[in-house]
Amino acid sequence: MITLQENISLRPFNSFGIDVKARYFVEIQEEADLRQLFDQGTLQLHPLLVVGGGSNLLFTRDFEGLVIRVGIQGLKVEGEGADVVVEAGAGLVWDELVQYCVGQGLGGIENLRLIPGTVGASPIQNIGAYGVELKDVFLSCAAFEIATGKMLHFDKEACGFGYRESVFKGALKGKYILTRVRFHLQKGGEVKTHYGAIEAELHQRGVTSPTIADVAEVVAAIRVSKLPDPSTIGNAGSFFKNPIISRDAFQTLVTSFPDIVHFPVGNTQVKLAAGWLIEQCGFKGMVSGNTGTWKNQALVLVNHGGATGQEVYSFSEQIIRAVSAKFHVVLEREVNVY
Ligand code: EPU
Repeated sequence: MITLQENISLRPFNSFGIDVKARYFVEIQEEADLRQLFDQGTLQLHPLLVVGGGSNLLFTRDFEGLVIRVGIQGLKVEGEGADVVVEAGAGLVWDELVQYCVGQGLGGIENLRLIPGTVGASPIQNIGAYGVELKDVFLSCAAFEIATGKMLHFDKEACGFGYRESVFKGALKGKYILTRVRFHLQKGGEVKTHYGAIEAELHQRGVTSPTIADVAEVVAAIRVSKLPDPSTIGNAGSFFKNPIISRDAFQTLVTSFPDIVHFPVGNTQVKLAAGWLIEQCGFKGMVSGNTGTWKNQALVLVNHGGATGQEVYSFSEQIIRAVSAKFHVVLEREVNVY
């Protein structure tokens, strides 16, 4: 049974806690609900926005179309040997999937512990943290095609994954609703501990042969220490992407800023830490009206209570201008702005 609601507040449905209204809102529990919406013409309402956990969104105004919240549940584990396929419903909370898999000794996503949001959103922006990206374990996803009402499957190649990117954010944006995702996990596989902060935390705890559960626990501890909990302080994680620039541009920059935090990307490019750039411009922990940056992570913009999306957006513009003036690097937003 699906119920189309009208003029409802989206505040509970975005982790920034921005209080805007949706003209129409519907929550779906299974693929058949989407088919029903398609058949009755509701899916043809414009504009259309699909939300899961709403953890990567900034609303700057009321949404004048239809918001669909995907609540499809379900979790299946296939395979008896070391290689296991896990299929999860798009509406499952991502961290519940991670905790379940860690508990079953299924390795591959333990570094992605505590990322807010749902399973269905995970391939869209190719979530990543602490040396692992979703694409490393992704097998395929099932998707509902909005224009035709058909179910389709996308394998890894078809998803066009990049750094916080996929075809669902690019060429196919707004055309599909992801309903289920399949992952390839491993029993007894190797843990990935090369990310500096993980190594340091394991060392501090005296853990020399970390298990999947150790890594998950360490990642959770690092995140809790650095990132604000969206259930108490509204935020959408990293607000900007870490900029990737050419090695030549980097050589120029490093002569003026010898301490610049950077990571090589192949042989020709360099990734800069946006958090560092923002901090150098004096924004770390800054409070600006009801918004600001987080005290322990300048890349995270927060809602201290009652912030409007416009306010957060204007503050982000101020940051972009400051970073651009100092470093000649233009930050790109990671969150989706509506
Ligand atoms: N840094 C600063 N000042 C700051 C923040 C960071 O100097 O205020 C420096 C740190 O010292 C560190 C470097 O920047 O040397 C990287 O910082 P961190 O490890 O916190 O990671 P990040 O690059 O800021 C990225 C992801 C996060 C993910 C972490 C851990 C992006 C846009 N963000 O942040 O993802 O959790 O790495 O892997 O790639 C998200 O996408 O929402 C998100 C939280």
